[in-house]
Amino acid sequence: MVSEHAAQVLVASNRGPVSYTFGDDGTLTAKRGGGGLVSGLSAIGPGTDAVWVCAALGDGDREAVRRTDGRIDPAETGGRRVRMLDIAPEVFAGAYNGVANSTLWFVHHLLYQTPLEPSFGPEFRAQWAAYETYNRAFAEALADEAGEGAAVLVQDYHLALVPGMLRALRPDLRIGHFSHTPWAPVDYFRMLPDDIARQLLRGILGADRAAFLTHRWAEAFRACCASLLGGTGDTRIGVHGLGADADFLRERAHRPDVDERLVALRKEIGGGDADTAPRKTIVRVDRTELSKNIVRGLHAYRRLLTDRPEWHERVVHIAFAYPSRQDLAVYRDYTAEVSRVAQQINSDFGTDTWRPVILHVKDDFARSLAAYRLADVALVNPIRDGMNLVAKEIPVVSDHGCALVLSREAGAYEELGEDALVVNPYDITATASALHEALTMGPDERAERTKRLSAAATALPPQKWFLDQLEQLRAPRGE
Ligand code: F6P
Repeated sequence: MVSEHAAQVLVASNRGPVSYTFGDDGTLTAKRGGGGLVSGLSAIGPGTDAVWVCAALGDGDREAVRRTDGRIDPAETGGRRVRMLDIAPEVFAGAYNGVANSTLWFVHHLLYQTPLEPSFGPEFRAQWAAYETYNRAFAEALADEAGEGAAVLVQDYHLALVPGMLRALRPDLRIGHFSHTPWAPVDYFRMLPDDIARQLLRGILGADRAAFLTHRWAEAFRACCASLLGGTGDTRIGVHGLGADADFLRERAHRPDVDERLVALRKEIGGGDADTAPRKTIVRVDRTELSKNIVRGLHAYRRLLTDRPEWHERVVHIAFAYPSRQDLAVYRDYTAEVSRVAQQINSDFGTDTWRPVILHVKDDFARSLAAYRLADVALVNPIRDGMNLVAKEIPVVSDHGCALVLSREAGAYEELGEDALVVNPYDITATASALHEALTMGPDERAERTKRLSAAATALPPQKWFLDQLEQLRAPRGE
């Protein structure tokens, strides 16, 4: 029986477009969900009949589900139909903290390096059972919400089993899966126990189409399927390189709240008075986690200041590092290390008039945009990243053009590599040299590169990214 709410387009992701927190007086406050996936999916038309199925992430969300029976008021979701699932806290912890963020995230971002090693004992097996339960909850909700022959777009590594489970429940549906992360090279992926590795691949191959952010990740997935399953069967493989939303960003970056942050940031940066030239800025904005390589970025900045004292008093590194996944010790430790290294640089090099690193950890979108506008240099040096939208957003928003120092391991490298200063993310010395080169790039070259970077970065804006996938998914099978 198809529900009375049956939709023709459905999206499923762990994190939804809205999340709730309790105020001191017990009231619930809705906040826009963060991250690249939510930005991309925000193209899902407000006011359409598309349904977005997501998980309740914490107590605030669970209370919102209780009050609304999981059908969140569109007034709080930017007009979207959202069905939020109340997953039991222990199931959510095993699936999200355990399997997704302690294991799959580490595998796809190549983060295991001795002594940080994977562990596949009984605790992992219990988490895996939770992951299956969590995936099944999504599959059942989607089966319940979907109209006959509907298109369902399942997102990311949290939900790798959903396509296979949903296919079994509803063979009539068109199912797509999209990976927002890199995909691990086959030898690294095979670190997972064979049965788990096969289940993950088979889960995704339950979809009609499996899509990725770059050709590199798509090929890695194919290689894993070839090695473990003998191929990808009937599942089509696609690539859709999510781009920045130029119209939204440019408009949003010139609203009064951003202007206010701009004034405050300029004050923090200092310099630029009657006697001194304005200081140059190196800007980075990340969720704080190991793949973003923030600590090595700080070490590279330190190397720049050590090797080239001519930059003392003349440059400031604006590092916005917003804590994420703080339930897990490995992420908390990394967050603490970022602060420690930043403070150390300030105490070793800072003066009464110059703070070399401005580190902010409280997520503030308007302030991030203000930093984008001020950027002379954007530093994006992940160990590995599905795409990295910041690399695409800064050139679009920067007021006077910026040079981009970009890791060759970010998905964005596939489209921006030619006009960025490309670095090996492990090589601190080379990253320091690239920062110097970026800071000294002439205005004409910088302007030309920024123009080309912006064009490449906005080639596939979120709405088109989403509609292209939908169109491909609805194309007759076999095409
Ligand atoms: O890279 C995968 C991804 O889903 C991003 O799209 C997103 O920015 C990030 O992970 C969010 O992680 P979390 O929901 O755990 O904060």
